[in-house]
Amino acid sequence: MIAVAIDGPAGAGKSTIARQAAKAMGFIYVDTGALYRAIGLYALQNGVDLSCERNVDQMLSDIKITLSFVNEEQRVLLCGRDVSMDIRTPEVSMAASNVSALPKVRAFLFDLQQEMAHTHNVVMDGRDIGTVVLPHAQLKIFLTASPEERAKRRYEELLQKGAQVSFEDVLKDLKERDYQDSHREIAPLKPAQDAVLVDTTACTLQQSIDRIIDLIKERLS
Ligand code: DC
Repeated sequence: MIAVAIDGPAGAGKSTIARQAAKAMGFIYVDTGALYRAIGLYALQNGVDLSCERNVDQMLSDIKITLSFVNEEQRVLLCGRDVSMDIRTPEVSMAASNVSALPKVRAFLFDLQQEMAHTHNVVMDGRDIGTVVLPHAQLKIFLTASPEERAKRRYEELLQKGAQVSFEDVLKDLKERDYQDSHREIAPLKPAQDAVLVDTTACTLQQSIDRIIDLIKERLS
């Protein structure tokens, strides 16, 4: 099996780039952030106190997460319900970041992620794919861009969806999530030692996609 790991901070364009690269290569695109988001959504909807270990244990024994693919698009099922849309709100982003700092949550999702890579050729994106989940991936990419550029992209995306947000709030949220994701004790966001660093600050989306596809083809040839 072939695995391409793409890690990086929120808003670097990972999901769009990874999706297109997977399509070009005929691989499956696995968005691991969606798994943390599904758990974040569950915690929000059920008012789970994340500081209480027993509550977290109970939550994880009640949760069932399944990934399915419809026309090559990943769908996330939480206890049998498709939550692929519900997990895309700013509240769920922060809840996902909160649950992702819990070792038990990371352990819970580890097997599911590895199993996907054992059974399919994948482009998998996240925060710890190259460092923890798929340390033997044939190619590891750390994708980034300046915080301002990432916030600008996220802001424009939200405006297009009709959301009422200010650029300052988007930038603040993004910096807060960057800090939280990079400073947690377990599996913090950082490039794997053998990752190729790709900074997309000055690139168009298409340039970034082309660069990643070139890197994959180069590595596999
Ligand atoms: O990529 P995303 O924004 O959908 O991820 C949501 C949150 O989940 C993010 O703040 C950090 C966490 N996450 C993680 O800790 N490890 C991953 N492999 C993917 C996401």
